[in-house]
Amino acid sequence: MRCLSLARKTYLALLLLFAVTLLLLSPVSASDGGAFGVALSWTEDPATSITAVWRDDTQKTEYLQVTSEAEYRSSGFVAAVTAEASCTDISLDASGVWHYEATANCLEPGTVYCYRVGCEDAWSEVGTFHTDDPKSETVTFAYMGDVQTAGEMEADYALWGELCAALYERSPELSFAVLGGDLTNSGISVKMFDCFFQNASPVFSHVPLFSTVGNHESNILGGKPELFAGYFAFPDNGPEGFEEEFFSLNVGNVHLLVLNDWVFSGEQNLTDEDFAKLADWIRYDLATSREDWQVAVLHVPVYEVHSDTRATAVREAWSGIFEEYGVDLVFEGHQHVYSRSFPLYRGRVDYENGVTYIMGVSGSKFYDSSDESKAERVIYNTATYELVRTDGDTMTVQAIDLMGNELDYAVIPQRGVCVTRLEYIETLWRAAGCPEPSHESPFTDADSKAVTWSWETGLILGYGNGCFGPEDPMLDWQIDLVLGRMGE
Ligand SMILES: [Fe+2]
Ligand SMILES: [Fe+2]
Repeated sequence: MRCLSLARKTYLALLLLFAVTLLLLSPVSASDGGAFGVALSWTEDPATSITAVWRDDTQKTEYLQVTSEAEYRSSGFVAAVTAEASCTDISLDASGVWHYEATANCLEPGTVYCYRVGCEDAWSEVGTFHTDDPKSETVTFAYMGDVQTAGEMEADYALWGELCAALYERSPELSFAVLGGDLTNSGISVKMFDCFFQNASPVFSHVPLFSTVGNHESNILGGKPELFAGYFAFPDNGPEGFEEEFFSLNVGNVHLLVLNDWVFSGEQNLTDEDFAKLADWIRYDLATSREDWQVAVLHVPVYEVHSDTRATAVREAWSGIFEEYGVDLVFEGHQHVYSRSFPLYRGRVDYENGVTYIMGVSGSKFYDSSDESKAERVIYNTATYELVRTDGDTMTVQAIDLMGNELDYAVIPQRGVCVTRLEYIETLWRAAGCPEPSHESPFTDADSKAVTWSWETGLILGYGNGCFGPEDPMLDWQIDLVLGRMGE
C-alpha cells in the first residue's frame, strides 16, 4: 500500500484549505449577469482534465480558463489553459436555454487548480478543484439518493443545498460526488433544473458531479432524458446510442460505473438485442477494470423495498453480472428510504461473496415504510449523504444527516472477478464485435469461436497441452496478463 508522506499530506491539506476558503468567499458565478449554475465533471481523464458546464442568458463566445493554484497566486490567469466552450440551446422547444460546456486538458495529476468561466466582459468568480491522483489508494467521494422535492420547490432545494454545503465543509478532500437520479419532479422543466443547479453549484463548481438517470428525468416521449443530458456532461464511453446514460471512469483506486436502469421501464422500447448489448457492455467494462473497488450507481434498486416489476427486471438482467464481475457496492435510489442490505449473493445473505446495496435519499420526499427483510440498516424520513472512503483494501461508508450525525457505518467487503476462462474470453470477444476466426479450434477441450479467436489473437493461449481449461476460474494474474496483451 502506498502512503503519502507527511509533508505531502500537509501540503495537500493546506491547498484544500485554500480551496475551501475561496469557496466560502466566492460562489462560482458572474456577479452581474453572465455565467450561472456552474458545475464540474470529468468527461475525459480525471487525472489530466476538467470539464465545466454552465448556463448563460444569451448566446455568446465563452471560455473556460484553468491555471495551477501557484500560478494563479503569482500571475492570475496569464498562463492559463483556455478552452472555448460549446454553446447549445438545450431547450426542448428552441426557446434559447443556452448551455455552455468546455473541457481543459493537459493538467497535472493530483494538483489544485483555479479556474473561471465566461468572457472578457463577464468572468465568473474564481473556483478551485483538484485533479485525480491515479496512484492514490485513498479516495473520498459522496453518494446522494433522490434529490427531488416534496413541497415548495425553492425551499426544498435550498435545504438540499445546505446538505451539500455541509458535506463539503466537513469533507473538503472530496474527489467527486454521484447522484442516484430523480433530481427533479419534472424532467422537462428548465425552471426546476435551474433551481437544482443554483443549489448544486456552490459545492459542485469545486467538486466534479455525476448522476444516473431517474424516472423523473426520463419523462419525455421515447424515454430519453433529453433535458438532463443537455444540462450535464459525462464521459461518452457507454454503449453506442446510450452514451452518457451509461458510463464509467476511474478515480484513484475506484472504478465508478453509472447505469441507466430506467431502460427496464419499457419507455425506450428496447429490443432483446439492445438489452444484450447493454449487458455485454457492463460485463466488458467490469472485466477490463483493474481498480481495487468497483462501485455501480443505479436508480431503480436491484432488491426493491417496495414492490416494483422494474426492479425484478434489473435483478434478473444485471445482478448476476455484478456478482460475477466483482462489483463491491451498488448505490440506488427511487424508493425514498435509506436502506443498506446485507451482502447478497443470488438473493441470499453471504458475507463472503455478497454485493452490498445501499439505497439513499437526499431530498425531501420520503416513504415511511419498507420491506426490511434484506436490510442490515434502515432509516426513514431523513435526508442523508453517503460518504465513502477507500484506503487501499478497506472501504467504509457512512450515512450522515444535515446536522452531521452518523446514522450508519459499514465496512464494505471487497470482491473479485469470479468467472470462468470461457466466460471471460467470450466477454472480450463480444466486445470486439464477435470476429469470425479463420482457423479450427486448436484445443481439445473447447471449440467455441471466442476461444479460437483468443488463440489467434494471443490473448489466452491455453495451457500448452492442447487444453484451454474453459471451466477453470479466471485468476487475477491471468486477467492482468490478458489486459497487458490487449494494451500492446
Ligand atoms: Fe424518486
Ligand atoms: Fe424514481
